[in-house]
Amino acid sequence: MQNETEPKFTSQFQREVYQGLTAYPKYLSSKYIYDKAGDKLFQDIMAMPTYYLTDTEFLILEKHKEEIASYFSNGDSFFHLIEMGAGDGKKTKILLRHFTEKDINFTFRPIDISQNALDSLKKNLEIEIPGLKTEPLQGTYFETLETLHFNSEERKVILFLGSNIGNLLHEQAIEFLSKVQSYMQPNDLLFIGFDQKKNPQTILNAYNDQEGITAAFNKNLLVRINRELHANFKLDKFIHWEVYDPETGTAKSFLVSKENQKVHIADLGLNLSFEAWETIHTEISQKYDDQTVKWLAEKSGLQVITEFTDSTNYYKNYLFKKSV
Ligand code: AVJ
Repeated sequence: MQNETEPKFTSQFQREVYQGLTAYPKYLSSKYIYDKAGDKLFQDIMAMPTYYLTDTEFLILEKHKEEIASYFSNGDSFFHLIEMGAGDGKKTKILLRHFTEKDINFTFRPIDISQNALDSLKKNLEIEIPGLKTEPLQGTYFETLETLHFNSEERKVILFLGSNIGNLLHEQAIEFLSKVQSYMQPNDLLFIGFDQKKNPQTILNAYNDQEGITAAFNKNLLVRINRELHANFKLDKFIHWEVYDPETGTAKSFLVSKENQKVHIADLGLNLSFEAWETIHTEISQKYDDQTVKWLAEKSGLQVITEFTDSTNYYKNYLFKKSV
């Protein structure tokens, strides 16, 4: 039925917004939060005291950098240090600086869709860490891993930090990890940050700050649809709502309509109705435990070599290799 009335889409963004907002219940993908304003809001989130993830991962890398170096350099053989989603590199710099000081034989290969982001990261690293070799890879994760795969003599160590994996449902995480695994050789490594299950209140506080930074971050989806698809969402007619299920470890974000309202999205030719208290599901931020990480690894043809944490156990970085 719906397919018959679907307009011609000119981008994946248009298609996904249409599909999500004509579904019941409504949903949008959190990956579209990250335009220029969204990136800035995420920077602000990372600086919030209640958003413990960034600080904890920072501490873990700082505390264990020597041991991490010895795993990565594996008897001093050259490797590509590939980072999926490098951002501003703040956390990665701990490792990059340490490895450079120790004369470890590697090249840093940050992957990003945005050539702009890569150019400014490279420029910044040249100033901050003289002697570091940075060779950015522009494209999607899998396009770029594909190009490295065929250069397979050289070892790869792949980083996926920040609990970015938490935006994926388990099934999607297995699909993602299996695909990364398929680009790995027996001596390659994969190093991933997983936020852990903990006091549910601590988690809610991280995703529901009093200042409203997380609310603005979530609502940036609507801002973006307004601007890019010529829509008329009224931001103050929605509230940001966070729930956390301590059994499954899933934190979920919603935008909830405060009243009956209509919204028009001109570029999609779409007239939407919201009932009072109707929801748009926007994001999941999955929390993990050792058993779940081990299960995800097994399902993806990977095995855990070791894990690194700090005294709070709020967050862990796991090191994987290919198991098959
Ligand atoms: C970037 C996906 C790790 O889920 O913790 C922060 C995004 N959302 N506050 C997370 C986010 C709300 C973040 N990740």
